[in-house]
Amino acid sequence: MPVLARLRERFAGDRPLEGLRVGACLHVTAETACLARALAAGGAEVGLCSANPLSTQDDVAAALAREPGIDVHARRGEDVDAYLGHVEAVAASRPRIALDDGGDLIAALHAGGDDTVGGLVGATEETTTGLLRLRRMEAEGALRCPVLALNEALAERTLNDRYGTGQSALDGILRAANLLLAGHTLVLLGYGFAGRGIAQRARGAGAAVVVCEVDPLRALEARMEGYEVMPALAAAERGDLFVTVTGSRSVLGAEHFERMKDGAVLANAGHFDVEIDLADLRALASGGVRAVLPLVDQYDLGGRRLNLIASGRVVNLAAGEGHPAAVMDVSFALQALAAEHLAANRGELPAGVLDVPRAIDDEVARLKLAALGVEIDTLTDAQREYLRDWRGG
Ligand code: ADE
Repeated sequence: MPVLARLRERFAGDRPLEGLRVGACLHVTAETACLARALAAGGAEVGLCSANPLSTQDDVAAALAREPGIDVHARRGEDVDAYLGHVEAVAASRPRIALDDGGDLIAALHAGGDDTVGGLVGATEETTTGLLRLRRMEAEGALRCPVLALNEALAERTLNDRYGTGQSALDGILRAANLLLAGHTLVLLGYGFAGRGIAQRARGAGAAVVVCEVDPLRALEARMEGYEVMPALAAAERGDLFVTVTGSRSVLGAEHFERMKDGAVLANAGHFDVEIDLADLRALASGGVRAVLPLVDQYDLGGRRLNLIASGRVVNLAAGEGHPAAVMDVSFALQALAAEHLAANRGELPAGVLDVPRAIDDEVARLKLAALGVEIDTLTDAQREYLRDWRGG
């Protein structure tokens, strides 16, 4: 992660987070470890819990916990109570800056009242799902701190969802179920940035892709890209593999399961495990449920069998290793610079969901291009002048 390594070096000299406690609720992976070490190099004391009970890499958590200035609260496969207990432990340590992925830490900090949210300088949010939640908080007047919308930073948009989720969601599915994509139909529910990436890569591997989307503009874009677009009920009969990535709940439920083919495979690439309605699936499984592979449960719907990957949890992390380091280098460089920005502007930023400053996006893009060995042109003075002037045509 060369971009983060450069920032870590600079942070070690500048110490922009000196004396600040940073609480982070992020997937505990090798890439996150590099971020935690960069923050600690910048002078922060770091408390880390996992953003998902199934995404923690235990060896990474153990190694990180031995680093000075970093404490870790996470274990792979922890139950929901342990998971929430870990989030609450980080919230109770009263971080001044919170780095979140899904909004659970920011919600816990608010639930603790003045004691925990009162001292907060600001926060960042890594994922679309978390931002939807924080915007609901903001609309109700409940959000009490500035939150930088990292997921909407241009550098993040360009790389993370499309190339990160696009590749790693399919990687998790293929590792877990060893499917052949070519010649099969993938039904994709949700055509946001992550959905676009999954569709593109599945098509590249030979799958026929059917898109289900509630937003008319996105649905139109999917059609113009050449995918079949139809309602989920119609698609239910067509799919060999179903992938949800909507940020919403019960996108696949009883009425869909009842129409699916024998042997269909279901996976969720969205943040929370609510997109595939597990209660409906269990209720229909009159023939029982059995594990057919380490990460695949087969639900017998009275003769028709549906195969669920990783209990419907975010498949790229629960069945794979998440986004490759080359993608997380950009995401976590944004996180590090966002933390620095919050620290430098403490007391100055309004409560609410805020854009990441364009200068941060540009710096990350410049550093990433340099790391890739890519040089680009710069505008000449005459070009800059032309672009400023409205008089000329
Ligand atoms: N989110 C997606 N991939 C990730 C990774 N490798 N590490 C941390 N968070 C992630």
